[in-house]
Amino acid sequence: MGKQVWKPGNMLYPLPVVMVSCADKNGKTNIITIAWTGTICSNPPMLYISVRPERSSYSMIKETGEFVVNLTTKSLSKATDYCGVRSGRDVDKFKEMKLTRGKAEKLTFAPIIMESPVSLECKVVEVKELGSHHMFIAEVLAVDVDESYMDNKGKFRLSSSDLIVYSHGDYYNLKEKLGTFGYSVKKKGKKQKVNSKQNIQLKKKNLTWVNANSHKKGDKK
Ligand SMILES: Cc1cc2nc3c(=O)[nH]c(=O)nc-3n(C[C@H](O)[C@H](O)[C@H](O)COP(=O)(O)O)c2cc1C
Repeated sequence: MGKQVWKPGNMLYPLPVVMVSCADKNGKTNIITIAWTGTICSNPPMLYISVRPERSSYSMIKETGEFVVNLTTKSLSKATDYCGVRSGRDVDKFKEMKLTRGKAEKLTFAPIIMESPVSLECKVVEVKELGSHHMFIAEVLAVDVDESYMDNKGKFRLSSSDLIVYSHGDYYNLKEKLGTFGYSVKKKGKKQKVNSKQNIQLKKKNLTWVNANSHKKGDKK
C-alpha cells in the first residue's frame, strides 16, 4: 500500500465551521459561514478568519475592523449552510434564518448571534492579503457563552451543545468522546497526580496538564 501524491491543495480537515456576524458602519448586519478559521495565540487570545474579498461580508469587516465568531451546532446546521450559500447582498440572513442579533459587549458595530452557544467578539489587528483569501488576524476581546449550558456546579458544558465541524465538503457532529486531554498518559484506576518528571515531559511537549475532573477553563495550549 503506497500513497498517492496529489497536487497542492487544502486538505487540512476537520475544521470548525463557524458563523461570522458583522455589520457596516450604517448598521446593516450580515452573517458569513467560514471554515478557514483557527486559534493562533493563547495570550493575548487571537484567531484568524480568511475571507475572499468578493464576499459582501469582506467590506463590512474591513470597514469596521470587527467581527464575531459564533460556534455552530446541529440545530444551527441549516442556518450555517444557508449563510454559506446566500449573499447578504440579496437577503437578510438574520431574518431568513430567524436568528437574533445581540449587542456585543466590547464591539461597536458587529452583533453576536444569540442562538450560538459561544460567540467570540473580535477586533482586527492585521489583514494579510494572501491570494484568493485575505486573512483577518484578530484579538478576542470578549467571549459570550450561553448560560443554558452551565451545569449546577457552574461548569460550562460545551459538549452538550452538539457542535458541528466541516470535513472535506461535509458537516459532522462530534458523536463519541475518546478521552480528556492527557488521558493517554493517565494511570488507570488511580486519581492522576502528575509527578515532576511527567510535568517536565508535558512541558517539553508544550502541553499543560489538565486533570480529567478540572474545569476546562484552564485548557491552555
Ligand atoms: C461550509 C462553508 C465554509 C465556507 N468557508 C468560507 C471561508 O472560509 N472563507 C470564505 O471567504 N468563504 C467561505 N464560504 C463561502 C461563504 O460563506 C459564501 O460565499 C457566503 O454566501 C458569502 O456571504 P456574503 O456575500 O453575505 O458575505 C464557506 C461556505 C460554506 C458553506
